Amino acid sequence: MPISFAPRLDQVETSAIRELFKLLGKPGIISFAGGFPDSAMFDVEGIREASARALAEEPGAALQYGATEGYDPLREQLAGFMAGKGVPGVAPQHLIVTTGSQQALDLVGKTLIGQGDKVIVEGPTFLATIQCFRLYGADLVSAPIDAHGVQTDRLEQLIAEHRPKLVYLIPTFGNPSGAMLSLERRRRVLELAVKYQTVIVEDDPYGDLYFGEAPPPSLLALSSQVPGSREQLVHCGSLSKVLSPGLRVGWMIAPPELLAKATMCKQFSDAHTSTFAQATAAHYLKAGRMPATLARVRGVYAERARAMGDALRRDLGDALAFTQPGGGLFIWARLTGAGGRVADGNAFARQAIEQGVAFVPGAPFFCAEPDPATLRLSFATANVDKIREGVGRLARALAHPAP
Ligand SMILES: Cc1ncc(COP(=O)(O)O)c(C=O)c1O
Repeated sequence: MPISFAPRLDQVETSAIRELFKLLGKPGIISFAGGFPDSAMFDVEGIREASARALAEEPGAALQYGATEGYDPLREQLAGFMAGKGVPGVAPQHLIVTTGSQQALDLVGKTLIGQGDKVIVEGPTFLATIQCFRLYGADLVSAPIDAHGVQTDRLEQLIAEHRPKLVYLIPTFGNPSGAMLSLERRRRVLELAVKYQTVIVEDDPYGDLYFGEAPPPSLLALSSQVPGSREQLVHCGSLSKVLSPGLRVGWMIAPPELLAKATMCKQFSDAHTSTFAQATAAHYLKAGRMPATLARVRGVYAERARAMGDALRRDLGDALAFTQPGGGLFIWARLTGAGGRVADGNAFARQAIEQGVAFVPGAPFFCAEPDPATLRLSFATANVDKIREGVGRLARALAHPAP
């Protein structure tokens, strides 16, 4: 007899991106498709030292079950880390440690979203959030973005029309958009949260990965300037993109009532985030290695982003339109169709694989009205030479449509 699955699974489909990833096994392929940091940049020595300290200094706690809210020494370190990012007044008890920020998003879904609830997300946005919120029954509404992030006038209209349960934003170097929400729009988002009493979820795994000037303060940091906004704000952070995604250390800062409900749900989910990983992360932060690590990864990604932008402009010219990102891991681009060339991201992805280079077409990142001409290129994992070679292959793919 076939297995009878829960009806909620009908609300999500296997990601189109997963299907594409199956093609990446081809030998010699240069991949701009991944959404992860470069493993060659992990501070292995620092993490080895931190884990050794965890085992030497508190083996019992590091290997034992722990509190669902998180390991206290790490909560203290993370509160300090947030203070260093311009968010004062975060006490350790204002945050819980989550198993990656992905779990924080899942807890947001679990605690806030009921069947048929409206939820506004950016178009485009993080694919796993689309899938996760849909699993909880969300009826997603897409808010348009431009190079300065979500268009707040349009966002206000959508909030007024749909009265959503929450608005989910990646204000700084979004995945996939690479866009950065301007300071003015950040303030406006917080004002809208207060005006419409709408929860805003700020997902911020990329905010530390800036290449030149630091980005404007996070919504969380700015919330002290907009009375009443902090009570509507959930902030999700992560060590994944700056230190190591394998540690699975993220965190969530939210109003106390919501944090308590999220903690209860987390208890049923994984009891707590790995104490060993948390103790390791705590020692890593305590040892003061983070500033140097951040400086190093920013430098490497900045160089790769520049190399990819330059190569795309040189080799693909007016066939591709994009804004050079000021941080993060991605270039979000749009095929213009100039000169009668391919204008469909999916078709171009197939042509590109034929030429030995991969990227992700942009359509799956939209919860509605996908723009088929878009694509996401990650500059994180290939070195500068490979980036130039890969972009050269993209140009060849453009010139040689697949049969
Ligand atoms: C926007 C965004 N949020 C959350 C995550 C989840 O990251 P993690 O669970 O590793 O913290 C990712 C990872 O790609 C992401 O791009």
